[in-house]
Amino acid sequence: MQTIRLQLRFLLPLIFVVIATAWLVLPVVDRITLRWFARDLDSRGAVVANALSDSVVEAMRANRPHQLEKLFDRALQDERLFAIGLCSPDGRMLQRTAAFPGELNCFNALEISSKRDPRLLLSGGPVHVAMHDVIDQPHAVAAADAASEVAGEPTAASASTFMGPPEYSGMAVAAARAASEAMAQTAPVTVGRLVLLHDLSFIEKRSQDTRRYLVGLIAVLGLVMALITMVVAQLSWRGWVSGVRALLRGEGIISPMGGGAVAAVATELRPFAADLRERLRDLEDEYRRMQGPEADWSADRLRALLMTQLRGDQVIVVSNREPYIHEHAKDGHIIVKRPASGLVTAVEPVMRACSGTWIAHGSGDADREVVDANDRVAVPPGHDDYQLRRLWLTAEEEQGYYFGFANEGLWPLCHVAHVRPVFRESDWEAYKAVNQRFADAVVAESRSDDPIVLVQDYHFALLPAMVREKLPNATILTFWHIPWPNPESFGICPWRREILQGMLGSTILGFHTRFHCKNFIETVDRFLEARIEHEHSTISFQEDETLVEAYPISIEWPSDATIASWSSVPEARRAVRERLGLPQEVTLAVGIDRFDYTKGILERLNAVERLLEKHPEWIERFVFVQVAAPTRSALEEYRTFQERVERLTLRINERFGRPGYQPVHLLAQHHDSAAVNELFRAADMCIVTSLHDGMNLVSKEFVAARDDERGVLILSRFAGAAREMTEALVVNPYHVEETADALHRAATMPAAEQRARMASLRATVREFNVFRWAGRMLTDAGRWRLKARVDARVARFRHGDTRGL
Ligand code: F6P
Repeated sequence: MQTIRLQLRFLLPLIFVVIATAWLVLPVVDRITLRWFARDLDSRGAVVANALSDSVVEAMRANRPHQLEKLFDRALQDERLFAIGLCSPDGRMLQRTAAFPGELNCFNALEISSKRDPRLLLSGGPVHVAMHDVIDQPHAVAAADAASEVAGEPTAASASTFMGPPEYSGMAVAAARAASEAMAQTAPVTVGRLVLLHDLSFIEKRSQDTRRYLVGLIAVLGLVMALITMVVAQLSWRGWVSGVRALLRGEGIISPMGGGAVAAVATELRPFAADLRERLRDLEDEYRRMQGPEADWSADRLRALLMTQLRGDQVIVVSNREPYIHEHAKDGHIIVKRPASGLVTAVEPVMRACSGTWIAHGSGDADREVVDANDRVAVPPGHDDYQLRRLWLTAEEEQGYYFGFANEGLWPLCHVAHVRPVFRESDWEAYKAVNQRFADAVVAESRSDDPIVLVQDYHFALLPAMVREKLPNATILTFWHIPWPNPESFGICPWRREILQGMLGSTILGFHTRFHCKNFIETVDRFLEARIEHEHSTISFQEDETLVEAYPISIEWPSDATIASWSSVPEARRAVRERLGLPQEVTLAVGIDRFDYTKGILERLNAVERLLEKHPEWIERFVFVQVAAPTRSALEEYRTFQERVERLTLRINERFGRPGYQPVHLLAQHHDSAAVNELFRAADMCIVTSLHDGMNLVSKEFVAARDDERGVLILSRFAGAAREMTEALVVNPYHVEETADALHRAATMPAAEQRARMASLRATVREFNVFRWAGRMLTDAGRWRLKARVDARVARFRHGDTRGL
């Protein structure tokens, strides 16, 4: 239907133009041909008149009308000559043939013949009127007269009697005399005028024929043009539709036609391809604006992004830590735990939104009991939003890869927290082998050759390149959850080149801050032969290009339903104080961390001790609760750290404790998210004093928990979060005095200031939530995939392969 309408759009104007042309051209052609024929008749008439001239003069001289009549009748044998008349020079009709129209005299014959169109319409049809002079040739006459005079005979002119009326005869004699006079002067004399009437009906017939041929020709030409137009319109329409559709899909210019046609369509669409794309981007922006400000990143919006920009492609997450751990409780029942992990806090809501598969180390003692034959279990329990694929590690593998290389090597290497990294060859071998095992699992789990693989953290620095080798078209997004040090610090790693090369197998490499991106790029610059484009923040190494970008990670902002399930702040304050045996009016500070030396727990305790020294008024009125989830306790460094923290806690409690008052409560056990949330809501301040932290999500969780807009956040300037959360009391944890002062300031901060700071912090975290983090990465991945698809097409196109275009 569409094509018929398009063809009509071409055809109707064409038909109109053909008809108009015929209508305009035919009369013109008609006139021209008639003029040609008239001119033709004039020349024919001149020839006839010329031929008759001498005989007419002779007959006139001899005054022989019969001779004239015969002469004229002979001439009339030419089928086109219709009638002949002879006029005297003064306009009288001297002789005419039978068909000569009675109404035509010499004067109107002269008038008609001198017109542009010398036509006379008679009852039998149109005739062409022409007049030609009859000339008496002087030489001939002079010679004859001379001869007569010499012979003593009268001249023809003087002796003959003309058959016409006396005046005619007299006129002829006069004419002869005049001729004689003229002869004497040797000049030709016009003795009469022949009126030749040509039959025009044959011209009419010819003109009709011409018109018919012309109409036929225009019709045939029109038909051929119409056919060509229809075919071209049909082909062009198909090509344009395909091309525009491809443009709309953002795939470039394609056509289902042959190679030549592809090139033609491609060339035609190229001028507006950029405009169209720009317009689409405008529409997309407009759509985004309509969807709400950046603050409105949600699970739904992330899902929509996945379905539109990433066309619902499969998402595979790889991390060491699993989001759900199945363990045996003391009574033998299987319980499910959420690990204390910033990574899990951030990525789990994203996976709930995106579905897909999460590959992780099955570390729970009941993990094997709940998986299916393919080592998969649907999680979250009861919701089954996505698949958790567990990978089992031997004790040796875990020792070498996780405890050894990842946590004794890379962790202190990247955190630069004054703990020496340890690099063992055997750990490195285990690290490589486990990375390969996880990479193989990714390949096995992917349903297509181009899945979206979200690689998490420093446990898998080699995995991106390993996956890239098997799935060259995969979109690999690696997020490095810990800091990246400067090149000098990183340079002490014996396998620095291998690690960098492994990471550069990623399509996108994300860090929390620009500063970490800069450190990474400088490290690559120092140790690899790679091309770095600082303007676009890309690194080209061997065949691959990697975008290095900052994506500050965050948390899922609590939903209204979640908030409704919380106990009120006064209830939480009362419950926590009761549980810990604290007076209700005590000022409560909390710290929630894994038991890790990077978290600055010792520095925090030192600051608490200093506060109580500097401001003894806080003794019995200030309590610090430190939740420290056991972590990596197989490592010596962690065990000694825990011991040091315990010793310091003891010391402070001994120094400042009173009967019924213990200034520091160290809770060295795992707390689930509900318990942590209750602590946050019960506290007057939250202390985050990391010595170095990629982001630190505890600070964000504290803010999210305080819908009463109260409470103060004390935040280390060495945590990535300090860049976004500027309304916190930002401290240098190495500076005990400064941190102690911050504790005092927080404890004495007026409610209005707390509210102002907290409201602003909450707005930031709400807007920069984890869906935005994932959304930005996936949007960049979508763009990258689109670019890769277009590049591949263009490459194929250049090589003349139009398949799939
Ligand atoms: O802080 C970086 C990080 O990878 C977090 O994402 C995570 O909370 C932790 O380190 C890893 O802890 P674990 O070794 O217990 O998995």
